[in-house]
Amino acid sequence: MSIGVCYYPEHWPRERWETDVREMADAGLEYVRMAELSWGRLEPERGAFDFEWLDEIIALVGEYGMSVVLCTPTASPPQWLVEERPEILQTDRDGTVRNVGSRRHYCVNSPAYREETERVVRAMASRYAGVSHVVGWQTDNEYGCHGTADCYCKDCSAAFRDWLGERYGDADALNDAWGTAFWSQQYDSIEQADVPRPTPAQDHPSLLLNYRRFCSDSIVEYNRLQAELLREYDDWFVTHNFMHLFPWIDLYEMADDLDLVSWDSYPTGHVQETTDGRTPPDRLTAGDPDLLSFNHDLHRGVLGRPFWVMEQQPGDINWPPHSPQPAAGAMRLWAHHAVAHGADAVVYFRWRRCLEGQEQYHAGLRKRDGSPDRGYHDAVEAADELFEVGPIDAPVALLHDYESLWALEEQPHAPDLDYWALIRSFYRALRARGVQVDVVQPTASLADYGAVVAPTLHIVSDELATHLTEYVEAGGELLLGPRSGVKDEQNKLRASRPGSLVALVGATVEEHETTPEQLERTVVRVGETEEYAFRTWAERLDADAAVQILAYDGGRRDGHTAAVRNTVGNGHAVYCGVWPERDLADELVESLLARSGIDRSERLPDGVRAAVRDGHTWVTNFTSVPIEVETHVAWRVGSATIEPFDLAVAEGDLIDNLSVRMGE
Ligand code: GAL
Ligand code: ZN
Repeated sequence: MSIGVCYYPEHWPRERWETDVREMADAGLEYVRMAELSWGRLEPERGAFDFEWLDEIIALVGEYGMSVVLCTPTASPPQWLVEERPEILQTDRDGTVRNVGSRRHYCVNSPAYREETERVVRAMASRYAGVSHVVGWQTDNEYGCHGTADCYCKDCSAAFRDWLGERYGDADALNDAWGTAFWSQQYDSIEQADVPRPTPAQDHPSLLLNYRRFCSDSIVEYNRLQAELLREYDDWFVTHNFMHLFPWIDLYEMADDLDLVSWDSYPTGHVQETTDGRTPPDRLTAGDPDLLSFNHDLHRGVLGRPFWVMEQQPGDINWPPHSPQPAAGAMRLWAHHAVAHGADAVVYFRWRRCLEGQEQYHAGLRKRDGSPDRGYHDAVEAADELFEVGPIDAPVALLHDYESLWALEEQPHAPDLDYWALIRSFYRALRARGVQVDVVQPTASLADYGAVVAPTLHIVSDELATHLTEYVEAGGELLLGPRSGVKDEQNKLRASRPGSLVALVGATVEEHETTPEQLERTVVRVGETEEYAFRTWAERLDADAAVQILAYDGGRRDGHTAAVRNTVGNGHAVYCGVWPERDLADELVESLLARSGIDRSERLPDGVRAAVRDGHTWVTNFTSVPIEVETHVAWRVGSATIEPFDLAVAEGDLIDNLSVRMGE
């Protein structure tokens, strides 16, 4: 369990480097990540590489006993390169060229840029091959950041046609697969096909889904080029730093080319993206623990092993709408919370607040004058407290897939139907009971999980339906959420719903509707009177083999079925046709866990969370009130009284009898 930092020697005078590196080592840091945006410094003119400065800082880091993670510098091609080969630039959908002047202005499908990439990656990799404390590489930096995953340049247009040709063969097959007779959109030849362009009305849904697949494939292919080049030179690890809930890259497709998955965590910024300007004060200053851990679990699930936080927020940041100072201790809390969810390293971004450039309003561990800032003290404490732990053994799998995400994002059918938010409603209920969750793709092997939650499987192939049925028949407990089984792999509607899942679910969807606030949005358990709220989406089900478990309460749907449970072999499948609010999600999840006999805590208060990793229980307090753990245990870090934005780590797994009281 290590702490590290991102460092930009190119921003500081050489005379300062040794002081910085010594202070990093004194702080207990183990990794220094460097060079991801330094192409201009590394190669001031074509072919005239200047490695001497990087040699020097890499050597210094080694002398002080730390390791280096190097990055390929391809996220920021320099001026001279753009001037020589302007065709590398990205183009917006409206035809605007994205110019040099910030970063990420290149296109992954540009043959010219792929040549330049190979040149710079080879130069760096050959230079540092054999340097034993250069342990790994990050490819590029945050693929797709700043809205750059989709490009509409000439190279992308041509590459998309090739991609369609490989997939469909000819125009007839494509027309047939997509259903292009609608609005006379037939193609006479694949040559007419193109990336989405400015058009008066909506785009064809099959075009959109395939364009999203293509964008993801293009990034995966570009990353593969880098990963394979790096591996030619040494056996260092190869990773990439992904982003919070990033919808444009199929991480599971990328996985084959990575040894380690990492992501960049900015809790006080990310929470604002999901709360629509109404972020409560504690969340504004410490983030949302469930949003954070969902990202941890998602990235851990890609390779099914520990991940890194490659950039950890160090203090206030420059890019969200608001940048309140993080709560006292938050930077330490985030490090522990990441480890509890499977991180093996937490690397703070950045060492020192920068005096120049776009990120002057972004904190570092050190202040602008180089003296320690709050994040530094938190990082030192975390580095001192963390201890070695093995992997997480999660009893529940939560199924997530990019195809469903893409199809739903392109046709949400309600202003607030957000795929990630829907998924997190179910995830939050699991986390409120201290259950560890592996976020995995639907085709993953499920046999070892006591329960599986699929918040929405919008696109379901026949093979996937069989896979899920086999899991349930063998005794598995499955909870399926709304809008499942709606579409086929071409993004066309299935004739009956939930498509190939009908037999597993034992019911059909008779009708659906979106439900804004002014419409009735409650259900009851069948035979009971307590009401549970749902939001945004409602399906009226018609139970066949299944038993009715939830019914609508009031309005036009009154008495009709909202959720069913079907017994299949030795297990059960529950299908819930509404998007549950918190209490209903808890009801559904609690009964799922009870049926499968999974250890769980009482329902924890919002902002208080517990997580078990390798025989230790982390209790984290993301609230501004102290909490008291009433269960008697031995504490490895902290104690039973947990102050605001603080945490404690207990020896042993205390989830099934964890009891927590909120203080004053
Ligand atoms: C990340 C990026 C970093 C830096 C940081 C600021 O998205 O990778 O280079 O810009 O945000 O928070
Ligand atoms: Zn392009």
